[in-house]
Amino acid sequence: MMSKVKFLDLKRLNAPYAAAFTEAANSAISSGVYIGGETVRQFELDFASFCGARECVAVGNGLDALILSLRALMIGPGDEVIVPGHTFIATWLAVSQVGATIVPVDVDQATGNIDVRLIRSVITSRTRAIIPVHLYGTSADLPQILEIAKAHNIYVVEDAAQAHGDTTFGQAAGNYGHIGCFSFYPSKNLGALGDSGGIITQDKRLADRVRELANYGSIEKYVHNEKGLNSRMDPIQASFLSIKLTYLPSIIKKRKAIAASYTEALLKQSPSRVKRLLQEQYDGVWHNFVVLTDHRVSFMEHMQSKGIETAIHYPKVPSKQPCYADDYGHIALPVSEQLCASVVSLPIGEYLGADEVKAVCDALLTYMGCHE
Ligand SMILES: Cc1ncc(COP(=O)(O)O)c(C=O)c1O
Repeated sequence: MMSKVKFLDLKRLNAPYAAAFTEAANSAISSGVYIGGETVRQFELDFASFCGARECVAVGNGLDALILSLRALMIGPGDEVIVPGHTFIATWLAVSQVGATIVPVDVDQATGNIDVRLIRSVITSRTRAIIPVHLYGTSADLPQILEIAKAHNIYVVEDAAQAHGDTTFGQAAGNYGHIGCFSFYPSKNLGALGDSGGIITQDKRLADRVRELANYGSIEKYVHNEKGLNSRMDPIQASFLSIKLTYLPSIIKKRKAIAASYTEALLKQSPSRVKRLLQEQYDGVWHNFVVLTDHRVSFMEHMQSKGIETAIHYPKVPSKQPCYADDYGHIALPVSEQLCASVVSLPIGEYLGADEVKAVCDALLTYMGCHE
C-alpha cells in the first residue's frame, strides 16, 4: 500500500521557507563569499542568543562538532570518555577519532538517556569527559551529570544534536556543560539543506580553540599552530539556518502538540502493547517520537498497512556494530540492547496536518484489534 503518512518528507518540511531560502541563496551567490564571513557570523550570534550561550562556532557537521570539542579540551590517547550505550554512532566515533578510550554506560529505561546512577562506578583517574546525549530531543539528567563531573573534575561535552531548544532542565540543551555540540543535518529540528553543525559554550577561550582547530589549526593565514581540520560552515547554509531559527519555537510547539496527540492515543489502549518511551514527566522537543513494543515487526507492518511509515532509531547499539564489536561487543548494556530491539519512531514532522496526525492515532488504536 502507498504510504499516506511518510516518516519524514524533507521537501514538504522546507517548502514554507522556499521563497526566503531562494532570496538568501541569491544574495549569497552575488556576495562572492562562499565559506565563513558575515552571514555565518550572524548565524553564530543568532544561535548563541537563542541558546543563551556566550559563544557559538559554526562547523561542518555534528560529528566534527564533537571531535573539535574533544580536541579543544586536549582529550586524546590515554584519556577515557564516558558515553551512553544507546546513541547514534557519531557520539562514539568522535571519541575514537581523537584516539581516546570509549567507556560505555547503559541508559535509563525512563528516557533512553545515560543512566546517571551508573556513571560514578566507571570513573577512573583517566576519565577526562562525559558525553551525555540528549537522545530523541529530551535532555539527559544534566543537573546530576554536572554534579558528578564537578566532583571528579571532568568535562561535560553535551551531544545536543537532537535537542535544539530543549529546556527540560531549565536552560537550553547544550548550555549546561563545558561545551554543547549540535548537528544541523537536514532532518534535525533545526536542519540545513546540507551538512552543517556547531558548538556553543560560555568559555571564549574554548570557542577560539574550536574555531582555530576547525580552520586547519590556523588563525593567521599560512601559520598552523595545530594539526587542525577543515570544518567550516558556508554562508548559504548559515542564511537558511538563521531563517529557520526564527521559526524554531513554533516548530517545537507543533511537535509537542503532535506528541500530545500520540500520547493521548497510546493511553487509550487497554491493555497497552505499545508504550511511549519517555515516561510522562518528560516532554522534550520531540526530534523523534519513540514507542516501545515487544512485537516490532507486526506493529510496523500494521502501521504500514494503514499507510503510516515508521522508522527505527537505532536497530543496533554502537558496541555491536562491526567497527566496535571486537572491542566492545562483550560489554553488558542490557537496557540499551533492549531498546534497540523494541523502539519504533512515529512520523512527527511539524508539517503534519490534523488528518495525518489522526491517521497515525487511528492506526495506533486499531493495533490491538490487529493482534487478537
Ligand atoms: C546524537 C547525534 N550525535 C551526533 C550526530 C552527528 O551529526 P552529523 O550527522 O551532522 O555529523 C547526530 C546526527 O546525525 C546525532 O543524532
